[in-house]
Amino acid sequence: MKKVINVGLLGMGTVGTGVVKLLTANSHNYEQKVGAEIKIKTVLVRNPDKVRAIASEAKITTDIQDIIGDPDIDIVIEVMGGESPAKDYQLAALKAGKHVVTANKDVMSKYGRELFAAAEESSVDLMFEASVGGGIPIIRPLKQCLAANNITEVMGIINGTTNFMLTKMTLEGVDYNSVLAEAQRLGYAEADPTADVAGFDAARKIAILASIAFGSRVTVDNVHVEGITGITPEDICYAGELGYIIKLLAIAKDSENGIDVRVHPTLIPIDHPLASVNNEFNAIFVRGDAVGETMFYGRGAGELPTASAVVADVIDVARDIHHGVSSRILCTCFENRPFCPIENTQNSYYIRILVDDQPGALAAIAGAFGLQGVSLHSVIQKSQIGRFAELVLITYDVNHLNIEHAIDTLKGMTVVNQINSVIRVVKE
Ligand code: NAP
Ligand code: HSE
Repeated sequence: MKKVINVGLLGMGTVGTGVVKLLTANSHNYEQKVGAEIKIKTVLVRNPDKVRAIASEAKITTDIQDIIGDPDIDIVIEVMGGESPAKDYQLAALKAGKHVVTANKDVMSKYGRELFAAAEESSVDLMFEASVGGGIPIIRPLKQCLAANNITEVMGIINGTTNFMLTKMTLEGVDYNSVLAEAQRLGYAEADPTADVAGFDAARKIAILASIAFGSRVTVDNVHVEGITGITPEDICYAGELGYIIKLLAIAKDSENGIDVRVHPTLIPIDHPLASVNNEFNAIFVRGDAVGETMFYGRGAGELPTASAVVADVIDVARDIHHGVSSRILCTCFENRPFCPIENTQNSYYIRILVDDQPGALAAIAGAFGLQGVSLHSVIQKSQIGRFAELVLITYDVNHLNIEHAIDTLKGMTVVNQINSVIRVVKE
């Protein structure tokens, strides 16, 4: 049995620094749990001259071969981010017989199948708890604790940056650019924050969760994605007046038309459990046929919360190494299920439009919606802007195609000056 389990760390940014801090501060505790010492032997970075937030006894290198080619290194932690070269490094580590722990959803959501095959081939572990939900346990619960269930739905807030932004915009009126800069400063945002605000980070995460939940491979290309870039202070304010709050939701449902998987901003009622999930916190509902509804809540981003999930995976792998077992739970995508096209989904919608403030305008708009089979739940005139009136409409549940056709019709009407926002609404 090994007395020391050596780790190679790829990346020492926000998450990597947290990993070093935890493995330094709690080493005695981990040694008791594992039965062997976990030691960071080598750290790969891009810029070796950068002043690091924490000193480590480990060797700093810019050459991946110092880790992949080192027979004493048992576990490789990949917290560099991005697709390339992270995917190639993970693959090389697995092929070299090293266990891999990663927080990288870009890689796991796209190359999961290939990486699992390599892990199986080499009889090693591949763990990725931190890739979704930061510090919240969600991968392990889905793969293990809820394994007795048929999962029918996974839904929630799974991007810390946008939740932080929407919270500050809603509660403090902070403007979009300032609050994005603050999320970057706090280490929540991706290296390119477009992934956060355009919804792709959440899409990658829901692809990972849906793959595990439904036992069928879902990649980011299968996810319908809308981000928060179009959300304005007006929408946030009007939503509030109507009793709603705007959140970026990720939804995966096992529907009769196939797997329905999407990410989009959503108006949710103020008394909905997700309405009070604020700042960088995430919350994920999972519905199973045996357990019913479960909810997972915690910090979805940040140095130590994310490192908590990474190090827990490292401890798990180290236990496996110590007991001479490996690759107990690898790919769980046993099916090849169809997808539900976005056109077949049903939702209520919030629509904000600017129309000519003249007699008959409202009737013409209501008529256009009616012709496309869209029934209006409420219509409110919000403000007068010159010769225009701003209208806020909420529809009943309607097919996605019908709302698209209704919007196309509105765009061609002379009384309609501008369609400002179209956002889905969750009623309960
Ligand atoms: P980060 O702060 O940008 O750190 C990236 C680190 O990787 C840096 O140390 C960088 O080196 C190193 N690196 C990048 N490209 C490299 C290359 N080609 N060769 C060698 N080293 C390279 O990123 P992070 O926020 O820690 O995120 C890391 C991963 O965790 C990402 O996959 C991210 O999606 C995921 N994640 C992050 C969070 C979070 O809250 N931040 C939460 C969950 C998951 P230098 O320091 O020399 O530049
Ligand atoms: N950028 C991600 C977020 C980090 O804001 O949720 C955690 O995965």
